[in-house]
Amino acid sequence: KRPAGAPDAKLARPVAKVGVVGAGLMASQLALLFARQLKVPVVMTDIDEARVAKGVGYVHAEVDKLLAKKRLAPDAAARTKALVSGSVSKEAFADADFVIEAVFEELSVKKQVFAEVEAVVSPECILATNTSSLSVTAMAEDLEHPERVVGFHFFNPVAVMPLVEIVRAPKTDDAVLATAFGLARSLRKTAVLVKDAAAFVVNRVLLRLMGEVTAAFDEGTPAEVADLSLKPMGLPMTPFTLAAMVGLPVAQHVSESLHAAFGNRFHVSANQQALIDAGIRGLWAPTPDGGHEIP
Ligand code: CAA
Repeated sequence: KRPAGAPDAKLARPVAKVGVVGAGLMASQLALLFARQLKVPVVMTDIDEARVAKGVGYVHAEVDKLLAKKRLAPDAAARTKALVSGSVSKEAFADADFVIEAVFEELSVKKQVFAEVEAVVSPECILATNTSSLSVTAMAEDLEHPERVVGFHFFNPVAVMPLVEIVRAPKTDDAVLATAFGLARSLRKTAVLVKDAAAFVVNRVLLRLMGEVTAAFDEGTPAEVADLSLKPMGLPMTPFTLAAMVGLPVAQHVSESLHAAFGNRFHVSANQQALIDAGIRGLWAPTPDGGHEIP
C-alpha cells in the first residue's frame, strides 16, 4: 500500500551512491544504515581528517559489534565496511545520486552546505536534510535546483528507531519524493509525509514533554526527581537520558526553534548548564561542550 502522500513509486530514481555531509554521531549512523541496507558506496565528509576518521571508525566499530552479536555475517560485515569511505572534500560527492546532510542544526550552515554540494553534483542528485527542526523550504530556496531538496528526518538511535519523517518543500518534485519513499522502504523504515512546520510532528510531541521536565527543574524540582519520576511511566528512556543521547546542543536548538515558532507552548530552560551540573551527572556524562561523545 502506498503511504499517504507518496507519489507513484515508478517515479523513483535509482540510488547507486550516497553522500553524507558530516561525520558526527547522526551522520555516522546514517552512513552505516545506508551501506548496510542499500549495499551501495557511501562517502562521508567533514571539515577535517580527524572528524572523518572518527566517523568511519564509528561505522567500523558498530559493524564489529553486529558481527560479534552474529547480526551480520562475516562477508556482509566486510562488505559494509568496504562500502563506507570518508573525505574532507565535497568533490567526493561528484557521482552521488543522493546526498544527505547531518551537520550542525543551524539554518545558515545547512544552506551553505547545500550550496557547496550543489556546485559539485549532477542536477538530478537529490539533496536531503536530516534536520530535526529547521525549515526545509528555507534550505531549498536559494539553490539552482530547489526541486531536488527533501526532508529525511531520522531518530536516534538510527539503527533501531523505525520511523523517518519525510518533508516536502513547495518545489520538491514528485520524482524526488518518490525516491525518498523508496529509499525509506529499502532502509526498512516506516516513512510518513509531514508538513514543513517547525520540528515536524515527533519532536513537537517529545519537546512538550522535555519542556515540562525542564520547567519543573527551573521551578526548583531537583533534576534527578524531575527526570527519574518519569521512569515508571512506560517511557523507554528518561528525558535527560534521551537528551544526552541526542546531544544537549541539539535538544536545546530544537526547543529554541519550537519556542520561536509556537511561543510559550514550548519551554526553553534558562538553566541548561545548571541541569548538567545538577543531578544529571549520575545518568550520563556530557562532554565539556555539552555534547555527547560517539561511544
Ligand atoms: N545503536 C545501535 N543499536 C542500538 C543502540 C544504538 N545506539 N541502542 C540500542 N541498540 C539496539 C541494541 O543493540 C539492541 O539490539 P539487539 O536486540 O540486537 O541486541 C536493541 O537496540 C535494544 O536495545 P537494549 O535492549 O539495550 O535497550 P532498550 O530495549 O532499552 O532499547 C532503545 C533501546 C531502542 C534506544 C530505547 O531505549 C528507546 O526507544 N529509547 C527512546 C529513543 C527515542 O525516543 N529516540 C528519539 C530521540 S529524538 C530524535 O532523535 C530526533 C531529533 O531529531 C532530535
